[in-house]
Amino acid sequence: MDHDPSSEERKLAHINLAMESQISGVLKDKRFNYEPLFEAHPSENEGPKSLNFLGKNLLAGLWVSSMTGGTGPARHINQNLARGVGEFGLGMGLGSCRSLLESDKFFDDFNLRPLVKDQPLYANLGIAQIEKAFENGSWEKIERMVSSLKADGLIIHLNPMQEWFQPEGDLLKRSPLESIDKALEKNSFPLIVKEVGQGMGPKSLKALMKRKLKAIEFGAFGGTNFSRLEQLRQKEEKGFRELALVGHTADEMVSYVNQILKEEKDILCSEIIISGGVQNALHGHHLVQTCKANSVYGQAKAMLIAAQGDYKTFELFLKNQIEGLSMMEKYLTSGANGE
Ligand SMILES: Cc1cc2nc3c(=O)[nH]c(=O)nc-3n(C[C@H](O)[C@H](O)[C@H](O)COP(=O)(O)O)c2cc1C
Repeated sequence: MDHDPSSEERKLAHINLAMESQISGVLKDKRFNYEPLFEAHPSENEGPKSLNFLGKNLLAGLWVSSMTGGTGPARHINQNLARGVGEFGLGMGLGSCRSLLESDKFFDDFNLRPLVKDQPLYANLGIAQIEKAFENGSWEKIERMVSSLKADGLIIHLNPMQEWFQPEGDLLKRSPLESIDKALEKNSFPLIVKEVGQGMGPKSLKALMKRKLKAIEFGAFGGTNFSRLEQLRQKEEKGFRELALVGHTADEMVSYVNQILKEEKDILCSEIIISGGVQNALHGHHLVQTCKANSVYGQAKAMLIAAQGDYKTFELFLKNQIEGLSMMEKYLTSGANGE
């Protein structure tokens, strides 16, 4: 190591902090092997491996999961998120665009194509809005909305549990699968289906993977949980709090996807956005490495926290995530618990 002016200070810190830095073997992360031998550090302009996802080029396998729009601070947050997606070559789902079906008042909250550039950008509606559109014969309104946003397609979120807990929630008259099939029949634009924080079991995943969807987003259990959130919103308890604890984690859902890919032949959708409770880039990297489908990982809450302030803060957050992913790609391989 070269001598530099701060060297003495650093050497002293090494002596003083050596005791504090002891880590018990019990804490070892068993998901990875650490292979320090074969790579140089990522150079300044070198990112993680780029990938083709949803028919476009992503410079890193990182997705901004659907969140907001149509309320005070949403425009600022969305513009930060979208700028980051455009700058770092990622992909993004819009928050529920339901208000745009009624009026253009909040159009600018969602009008993010200029910032996202040519990266994947998907509009978002709940399954209840899809059901209603077929009931009222107003599917064209949805087509117009997707087209006015210059979105690549539409994410349909499934949230029957949340809607049930929500006092003003929409109860479904048909199964979500029936409405999804009708939307697929229309063949208007690419469709993605997601949950919002409780994930889905193997039977639902298999049914979705056998349909001509562009992708499936997990919205898995283990992070933001909208049934819980609705319970928190209510002054009076509806009861059944424990229903918010039912669901499937992203780790579980990756293993269902792998099992389905192994066992089933007629798979039509095998691109996956692994989201819901993805704690950090290392967790996301592990999930993507373990998943046998073409996948990226997505985060909502973590992105929201980072994007609430100024753009510089969000830019730094994404820069650090991406630098971390490059390091992981270079020095980590799947370990004892990896498949
Ligand atoms: C503030 C907020 C608003 C959200 N709104 C939507 C939405 O409109 N549509 C949707 O599909 N998901 C929505 N979600 C769910 C997220 O897309 C994601 O599935 C969920 O938060 C789990 O990811 P996380 O644990 O990384 O937060 C929202 C999440 C947050 C935090």
